[in-house]
Amino acid sequence: MIILLSPPLFNIPLSSSFLSRAEEGWQVYSTASDPDGRCVCTVVAPARNLCKRDPRIRQLRSLTEQVQNVSQSMEVVDLRTSRDLQYVQDSEPLLRGVDGRLHTYNTLNLPKNGILINKIPLGTLLQQIKNMISVDLLHFGRKGALERYSGRCGRLTAVSNPITVRASGSRFGSWMTDAMIPSSDSRVWSMDGYYKGRRVLEYRTMGDFTKGQNFVQHLLPHPWAGTGHVVYNGSLYYNKHQSNILVQYSFHSRSVLLQRSLSGAGYNNTFPYSWGGSSDIDLMVDEIGLWAVYTSIPNAGNIMVSRLDPRSLDVLQSWDTGFPKRSAGEAFMICGTLYVTNSHLAGAKVHFAYHTNTSTYEYTDIPFHNQYSHISMMDYNPRERALYTWNNGHQVLYNVTLFHVIRSDG
Ligand SMILES: *[C@@H]1O[C@H](CO)[C@@H](O)[C@H](O)[C@H]1NC(C)=O
Ligand SMILES: *[C@@H]1O[C@H](CO)[C@@H](O)[C@H](O)[C@H]1NC(C)=O
Ligand SMILES: *[C@@H]1O[C@H](CO)[C@@H](O)[C@H](O)[C@H]1NC(C)=O
Ligand SMILES: *[C@@H]1O[C@H](CO)[C@@H](O)[C@H](O)[C@H]1NC(C)=O
Ligand SMILES: *[C@@H]1O[C@H](CO)[C@@H](O)[C@H](O)[C@H]1NC(C)=O
Repeated sequence: MIILLSPPLFNIPLSSSFLSRAEEGWQVYSTASDPDGRCVCTVVAPARNLCKRDPRIRQLRSLTEQVQNVSQSMEVVDLRTSRDLQYVQDSEPLLRGVDGRLHTYNTLNLPKNGILINKIPLGTLLQQIKNMISVDLLHFGRKGALERYSGRCGRLTAVSNPITVRASGSRFGSWMTDAMIPSSDSRVWSMDGYYKGRRVLEYRTMGDFTKGQNFVQHLLPHPWAGTGHVVYNGSLYYNKHQSNILVQYSFHSRSVLLQRSLSGAGYNNTFPYSWGGSSDIDLMVDEIGLWAVYTSIPNAGNIMVSRLDPRSLDVLQSWDTGFPKRSAGEAFMICGTLYVTNSHLAGAKVHFAYHTNTSTYEYTDIPFHNQYSHISMMDYNPRERALYTWNNGHQVLYNVTLFHVIRSDG
């Protein structure tokens, strides 16, 4: 900005006022006398610097920078998951939405002259921007095909109200989707009963499952025990009846790929969950991979959790949680933390959490609505961030709320 000033008109002493402001960005561009002998000064006065000393402006700058950093982090996230085409396709419109809204904030509420800022209480503006960032990041997280990195992981803080997807089968059973494959493949598998079952129903979509239509049947060569089965990367992993053998069955080849004993693990209804039903060995999947929850005589019936290699069923690492398995209603794994409910009946809560990352436990008090009062299966699906449960012949879903710190450094 170029300002022509004549000192008599403005009555500002040049030396004391203008020169003292030089360090703030005010510069005397040139000086001259006009024909009437008045002093004319051309001064470069960057208007932005008028506000430089205002601490609110510094806060806003820092916030804008954080917003940019968050955008950058989201780009990094996008890159990391570019292998999963579905994921990227899901994310692009969201990222565009965020960019668009950031742009709107920049142009509407962060003008250079600071006029609009004065009309909006700064605290409100900051809160609006913060809310916008966290809401979008959470939404972004839920859209993902699979959490492949710990940045989107967190601690369970709440379980939503249940949604009953269907009422089918007997009191006990298990149903699931595959968290490891792209979300475009929404096949649903259902396994009714806990004793000696061999029939696995595969539905084309969740909609077909709801209506009980469009399914094929797989007849397992070996019967199962309990309800702790899991589908992972196109295979069913289950506990073979009256043994501690784990079986990997491929839906694609319709054959058993692998059988392996889970050494020392109790079976045949020796160490079930509180509801019985030969639920000695519970297999599950989270963001990190495949896990087995069980116990053994040397562990005095306390819950053991082991991470398994899905290709060999080797035990990679084990933890003794110290929580008695028979006092547990169900257990599920989220982000490397095992959550245990205190009952399969009405009034059940998520009561205990064991963090494998730190080998520590804590007692929790996270309620959920046990609508049909008899849960015989409860497993987390990291792709959908949902809990799949079988509740007294009803197939029920819950969403989970994970608390995670949003980091701006990628
Ligand atoms: C933004 O990221 C840069 C580079 O990683 C870092 O130096 C800066 O401190 C970050 N700013 C904020 C406000 O987090
Ligand atoms: C361990 O995992 C829990 C739950 O996901 C998380 O809250 C905690 O910050 C993690 N601790 C470390 C040291 O990574
Ligand atoms: C998933 O299945 C594919 C194809 O069957 C295989 O190549 C890959 O190794 C499997 N990944 C895991 C983690 O088991
Ligand atoms: C399993 O339990 C049943 C019923 O208690 C019993 O008849 C059977 O012999 C047991 N089988 C094994 C292998 O322990
Ligand atoms: C979980 O959240 C998604 C997205 O908000 C929603 O579509 C779905 O119905 C919710 N499911 C449950 C069980 O609340």
